[in-house]
Amino acid sequence: MISFAVDLRSDTKTRPTAGMRAAMAAASVGDEQLHEDPTVNELCARAAALLGKPVALFLPSGTMCNLVSVLVHCRPGEEIIAADISHLISSESAGAAAIAGTQIRSVRSDRGIFTPEAVRAALRPEKINVPVSRLLHVEQTVNRGGGSVWTLETLAAVSAAAWEAGLKVHMDGARILNAVVATGTPADAFGALCDSLWLDLSKGLGCPVGAVLAGDEAFVAAARRWKFRLGGAMRQAGVIAAAGLYALDHHVERLAIDHDNARRLAECLSGVPQLRVRTPETNIVFLDLIDDVLDATTLSRALAERGIGIDPVDAGTLRAVTHLDVDADGVYKAAEAIIAAVRKI
Ligand SMILES: Cc1ncc(COP(=O)(O)O)c(C=O)c1O
Repeated sequence: MISFAVDLRSDTKTRPTAGMRAAMAAASVGDEQLHEDPTVNELCARAAALLGKPVALFLPSGTMCNLVSVLVHCRPGEEIIAADISHLISSESAGAAAIAGTQIRSVRSDRGIFTPEAVRAALRPEKINVPVSRLLHVEQTVNRGGGSVWTLETLAAVSAAAWEAGLKVHMDGARILNAVVATGTPADAFGALCDSLWLDLSKGLGCPVGAVLAGDEAFVAAARRWKFRLGGAMRQAGVIAAAGLYALDHHVERLAIDHDNARRLAECLSGVPQLRVRTPETNIVFLDLIDDVLDATTLSRALAERGIGIDPVDAGTLRAVTHLDVDADGVYKAAEAIIAAVRKI
């Protein structure tokens, strides 16, 4: 089993804390499929209010939130507009194509953020031989953008462009609460600019599993049917929903610590001649290797030997993600190991 003293491979690597485990053990439960689980119902009500929507649905993963949303908003043969580097395109096993029968039109972006002009340019004309543009998909924060944040202004502009053209707007909010903490903008303000959105419990919030998808009643009713069809309906899921409620109470404000730690890591590495460090906006730091002699896989392996987990994203880039289980001391250790490893290779 791989074990890292400092694991910066992802913010999904957190383990439930003692407090979270206690909350899970004490959870009231019932049959989730029949809406009888009081803890799941409470989590959904909390998340819906937080995201500014009337209702919400508990799902096993963020990937399923995106897929179910595509299935509800789109028909086979229709098109989704999304950033070139979006997780939907790169990392969801093409579920939108394989299961929903949709096609994604990628738009060029700056760290995953794009303009209303880019949306308008990507819209298809109404012609029998072209796909129907149906959905605008945005990611908050943008994973491959280095945790970049859609501000309210930029989001409002692209949402308006999409709505004007009759599209729906969906937000992959895997790290929406990182954006909330980084900007001070409440989540429901982002929610007001989308038809559907979700938050992930198993990333910075530190839960073992789960995500909550929110929208209006008609959207959530249709999403509930897809959840069932895809095998995502659960039974006594209050045990895991309790972790989500605990996280909403205890692990939101502390995301600022993760952002500080990401900045700390970037600062420690800023003068290293072999690296170009992309300034993090939230909790994700990209390290580009300047020298062709050094490749990201070799560096990642050398770091693993030093007990530091940082994964390559391609031949010339690594990604480090800060989270609940890594403190400032861990970040300094990681920076020291990176500096030592790049010198030695
Ligand atoms: C931006 C983004 N969207 C969606 C997902 C998928 O979430 P999950 O791992 O809960 O399926 C991830 C996971 O890393 C992500 O970073």
